[in-house]
Amino acid sequence: MKRLLHIVASPRQERSRSAMVAEHLLARVMQRHPALEVERLDLFAANLPAFDHAAVEGRYHLLAGHAVDPAEAAIWQELKAWTDHFLSFDAYLIATPMWNFGIPYRLKQYIDILTHPGLTFRNDAQGNVEGLAQGRRTILIAASAMPFGTMPEIDGLDFQLAYLKAWLGFIGVTQVDAIRVAGTFGPEDVVAAAMAQAFTDADQLADAL
Ligand SMILES: Cc1cc2nc3c(=O)[nH]c(=O)nc-3n(C[C@H](O)[C@H](O)[C@H](O)COP(=O)(O)O)c2cc1C
Repeated sequence: MKRLLHIVASPRQERSRSAMVAEHLLARVMQRHPALEVERLDLFAANLPAFDHAAVEGRYHLLAGHAVDPAEAAIWQELKAWTDHFLSFDAYLIATPMWNFGIPYRLKQYIDILTHPGLTFRNDAQGNVEGLAQGRRTILIAASAMPFGTMPEIDGLDFQLAYLKAWLGFIGVTQVDAIRVAGTFGPEDVVAAAMAQAFTDADQLADAL
């Protein structure tokens, strides 16, 4: 790992549970790898472009094997700039809360900005998909009120880690580690135990990198 993009998907700033664990992990990683370049991308502060009519039209033109229309060129240049930025890193740390069983809309918007044919994946003539972000490593920090990981009967409600892993696989990122910060709502001792477990998991992962 030389350049790591630290993606912050919670708007809670210093009160964010996922951010606390991500910062803890990062501090430990930096002790061991002081030359690692880290850039922070706060998705609730970033000026993410809307993914609207022109962007969608351009995508369908690309999928049909055509160039985008001049009317769509500006937004596609912007999307390409975001993708080039994303692909300039060889590692990602994504810290995210669970919102309504999935991810916050700003992280989904970022994913919609990044995920296009010719930018982060391509289709071959047979329709097979090849991810263009291969060789990169990702660490996911997933916070949730519900205690995922300890109650198999709720696993089917997890569209947070399940979704992020599916998306990463689609763009070719197969080296993925995940830490849950699960059970962040409830009695103080329950939340403290969830945080302690997440910090321990973060230490172990940082030491193994
Ligand atoms: C809008 C919203 C929706 C939420 N939906 C869920 C949910 O579906 N399942 C869950 O376990 N927790 C849910 N939570 C709780 C958060 O996932 C939990 O508080 C988490 O620790 C927040 O992470 P953060 O502190 O990094 O923002 C929700 C919180 C908010 C604000």
